[in-house]
Amino acid sequence: MLLSDTEVISRVLSHIDNQTTDLGDRDWQEPVENYSSMARFNAELKLMRHLPVPFCPTAALPENGSYVARVAAGVPIVVVRTMDGTIRAFRNACRHRGMQVVQGSGCAKVLKCGYHGWAYRLDGRLEHIPHDYGFPDFDKDTHGLVPVTAEVKNGLVFVTQEEPLTRAPLLDTPVMMPADYQIFDSRENTSDINWKLNIEATMEGYHIKPTHPETFYPYGYDNLNVVETNGINSRITFPFRRIEKLREVPEAERKIDRMVTYVYNIFPFASVAVLSNHTSITISEPISPTMTRFVNYKMGPARDDDAEALQRAKKDASFVADTGLLEDNAVIRAIQAGLASGANTHFTYGRFEKAIVHLHKNLAEQLQSLNQFG
Ligand code: FES
Ligand SMILES: [Fe+2]
Repeated sequence: MLLSDTEVISRVLSHIDNQTTDLGDRDWQEPVENYSSMARFNAELKLMRHLPVPFCPTAALPENGSYVARVAAGVPIVVVRTMDGTIRAFRNACRHRGMQVVQGSGCAKVLKCGYHGWAYRLDGRLEHIPHDYGFPDFDKDTHGLVPVTAEVKNGLVFVTQEEPLTRAPLLDTPVMMPADYQIFDSRENTSDINWKLNIEATMEGYHIKPTHPETFYPYGYDNLNVVETNGINSRITFPFRRIEKLREVPEAERKIDRMVTYVYNIFPFASVAVLSNHTSITISEPISPTMTRFVNYKMGPARDDDAEALQRAKKDASFVADTGLLEDNAVIRAIQAGLASGANTHFTYGRFEKAIVHLHKNLAEQLQSLNQFG
């Protein structure tokens, strides 16, 4: 269970008074080879197929017929909103000769393969084969698109490709943003790093002053965080200095909006950062042990007539992307490149890095049970 907003505020104010921060109860040694090993990469990708993993926000499928296609855990997947509004997911491969039936995102009444024109309904059924007298013995009914599990939880579509080891990443996902938030920006970028380095950079505030002295630190604190584990997931609170204004406000009337950044880790591949005026969702798609594609959605207030709120959201997003995130990226790329130094056999995560310890501990456990699973 996560703390309420007012409990978070009180805990932050107490940390400010006492010059303290949340602490974990153990440290963790993570083998450095886990950031470059092919065997580990393959195991993590397999794990990704055996967990409910965020695929996109439900807002990416606004209408009946909306679809989003991309590679997830190395497998081409398409997620669609069917004609009755339910969300379904399929392996994105034609049952004729395997062409991907759709690319990117869009809206369509049927999913039509671009090679020979076989057409599938949004529920996956194979509806039409051009010149079907060429396939006299072919059973259309057993050649629909191959389904995988799609489930919606608190604004996210989760896809589970293979029998899940645990449903905890989905079950432990809390409400993170207003239900009517819409996407105002989506992009993908590829970086020469292991996916874990990027996720880890969002999960501790111990680096705020050294890494972000002129960007985040002037508005925030160094090493002052609330760090909560929430089942298999976690949440880190990064307070802004303006939170001190709330000392004057009676506890029951305190509002957390614009006073903190909440960063949720959805075990283990996704993070959702709830910033002052927008929410940023990042999903990792590991491409190799040392290369990752990051799929990012930025969401904000829905109302079209509220141009000012949208402007604030965009300004917020560009402040983060053009300043602090560049600093984080420089650090994590340097870590990846530095692996070749051979200096470390292990990285050590201390008590301040409680959420990362939680991530690595759960990741090790899940990979262990994946092994037993066969
Ligand atoms: S591969 Fe799709 S119609 Fe032939
Ligand atoms: Fe950072």
